[in-house]
Amino acid sequence: MAQYSYKDTILKVDNVNLTLGDKVILENVNAEVRDATRPGSVKGQIVGFLGPSGIGKTKLFEIMAGLLKPTSGNVYYGPDKEPAHPGCTGVVQQNYPLFMHRTVLGNLEIAAVKNYKNADERKTRIFSLLDRFKLRPYQDSYPAQLSGGQKQRVAIAQQLLCTDNFLLMDEPFSGLDINMVEEVSEMIVEIANMNEHNTIIIVSHDIVSTAAIADNLWLMGREKDKDGNPTSGSKIKYTFDLLERGLAWREDIRKIPEFTEMINEIRDLFHNL
Ligand SMILES: Nc1ncnc2c1ncn2[C@@H]1O[C@H](COP(=O)(O)OP(=O)(O)OP(=O)(O)O)[C@@H](O)[C@H]1O
Ligand SMILES: [Mg+2]
Repeated sequence: MAQYSYKDTILKVDNVNLTLGDKVILENVNAEVRDATRPGSVKGQIVGFLGPSGIGKTKLFEIMAGLLKPTSGNVYYGPDKEPAHPGCTGVVQQNYPLFMHRTVLGNLEIAAVKNYKNADERKTRIFSLLDRFKLRPYQDSYPAQLSGGQKQRVAIAQQLLCTDNFLLMDEPFSGLDINMVEEVSEMIVEIANMNEHNTIIIVSHDIVSTAAIADNLWLMGREKDKDGNPTSGSKIKYTFDLLERGLAWREDIRKIPEFTEMINEIRDLFHNL
């Protein structure tokens, strides 16, 4: 089993509530990400955030990204407890909003301006990402000329240029073929492990692909009465620590019986979320 230990809290969701109109969407949501370390290697954090459709994943995601203000509660980043604000994390939204009238290179240029003031340094960084994400042949193409997977990789590259340590991804696997899901999965792991404090939170309906690369899973659900009717807003109802279970940081993960057992456990829980 991989050796690991936990250090500081690097992201904290503290009693977040969200009411929209007269509808309680989120109620007392609490969650945290701690810096997981493994002696001798750099390990970022990957959290898989799962839950049924309409439960409130995207809303919490928007609150964590500082794009939506909760009715009450807070989200803090880093040891200095910096409150979430727009721009505090990279955000890859499901529809990959890119500037349609700019080329791939143009889109990345805009994203890189804030963090890379020096033009040469900016170019070096952009081209290394284009190579890494196999986008070099498309650098002069416009978004409308790209496939969904290519657009997605541009959107991810864009976020890597303008973000520091945190990346939130809403449905990064949706609409991709099996090869592309693998490619994006590998990329997520690579990005996470570029820096000890990197933290990637993946909202997804693809339980297996998400669990295969995550070190922690959050399951969002509501409290229910005995007839199965919801009695509250949504919260993080269950968490799975894959490090503790010996199911993180393993390339052969899908072949491990305990992994399959955990997936079945999650599928069962889903009926009651
Ligand atoms: N402006 C609004 N007013 C009232 N309710 C809203 C508003 N916007 C969203 N909702 C409700 O908030 C709930 C959570 O929506 P959210 O988009 O976070 O779900 P989700 O978990 O991301 O679902 P999916 O998996 O389908 O993307 C939904 O039930 C939705 O109907
Ligand atoms: Mg959503």
